[in-house]
Amino acid sequence: MTKPSVSNPAPVCVPCRLAAIGAVVLVLAGGFAYTAGWLTPARLTAPRIINTFEAVAGKPHPGYRRNHAKGLCVAGYFDSNGNAAVLSHSVVFMLGRTPVTGRFAVPGGNPSAPDTSSPVRSMALLFQLQNGEQWRTGMNSTPVFAVHTPEQFYQQLLAAKPDATTGKPDQAKLKAFYAAHPETRPFQAWVKAHPPSSSLANAAYYSINAFRFTDSAGNSRAVRWTMVPETPYAPITDAQKDEKNFLQADLDQRLQAGPLRWHLILTVAEPGDPTDDATLQWPDDRRHIDAGTLVIDRTTSQEDGACRDVNFDPTILPAGIQPSNDPLLAARSAAYALSYQRRTREEALHPSIHQSQTSQTSQTSQTSQTNGART
Ligand code: HEM
Repeated sequence: MTKPSVSNPAPVCVPCRLAAIGAVVLVLAGGFAYTAGWLTPARLTAPRIINTFEAVAGKPHPGYRRNHAKGLCVAGYFDSNGNAAVLSHSVVFMLGRTPVTGRFAVPGGNPSAPDTSSPVRSMALLFQLQNGEQWRTGMNSTPVFAVHTPEQFYQQLLAAKPDATTGKPDQAKLKAFYAAHPETRPFQAWVKAHPPSSSLANAAYYSINAFRFTDSAGNSRAVRWTMVPETPYAPITDAQKDEKNFLQADLDQRLQAGPLRWHLILTVAEPGDPTDDATLQWPDDRRHIDAGTLVIDRTTSQEDGACRDVNFDPTILPAGIQPSNDPLLAARSAAYALSYQRRTREEALHPSIHQSQTSQTSQTSQTSQTNGART
């Protein structure tokens, strides 16, 4: 019987193995350092954007969103009328009801800022579709955004950084930014011509970014959407201009009288309409489809409500809706994720951080209600 041949193992090259392990560690560390932006300090990364939001806010507000920090949670549902099925095969556009978790907010990094600190209001929604998918969206109350690219957005943030001596943004720097960025003019003109609304309930909220809708035959079209309120628009009153927290008090009062409604209006682009530039509106004569009614019927505080731990990343979309080629969308997704990571980590490390804010908010809202009754 012949013995099976056993081949001798090759001699082990210990230094080679150590070198290989070292190389793997270096590649991993290099990848981490690149992602964090340490190797390329001039590259625009999510940490640079979020660090700048924090610098603009002036002091830390642990546990809060790095932008749109002041807000409140809402809940309700979306009643689809089936009309939008011609544009998208998403389950959310079939005839029927979809539960919604949402959040109203004002831009800025300070959760205790006065409501008048910005002319913009925002509505963020998470549609929980019956097939398990989600549609998340963050909309502002202006039809256009101030800037076109993430780099311009970063430059705008830098220009708004508070001056070390005054603690306030340097008006000369802001003026210089706007003068050097003519793409901001449609936004500025719109804000000038449209005074802020007197309520969160009577504002329209715009997707601003374009998205791609695909129907069941595979046809794809660029779409923007607007939540149009049934409550008629009214401008902010002089009395409200002196109130710090009138928006939440007003919303609570209106909801005591019954639910609030918006229509989801889809606007379909024509060939040649820009889908990668959020500073430009599409012409008014584009096709509009009323897809159904959003009903908001309750609020909770953002410190313990269901919206607190939601990242309203606008690129979380159901089948039948996709991001467009707008460069702001990827930047938003990366920045929201990092803001979310930081704030939820802070909550986990210090579970009581929201308690002091909750009592502060309820005290200020009681004060503002008293002031409101006096005026
Ligand atoms: C079309 C442009 C934009 C719109 C309509 C928009 C809208 C919104 C809305 C509605 C929220 C509040 C979400 C909530 O209530 O949880 C929000 C938060 C935020 N936005 Fe934007 N935004 C835009 C562009 C940007 C850009 C370009 C950046 C930075 C790259 C940015 C950074 C942030 C951050 C960091 C948050 C906080 C996210 C979180 O912690 O959940 N946004 N934005």
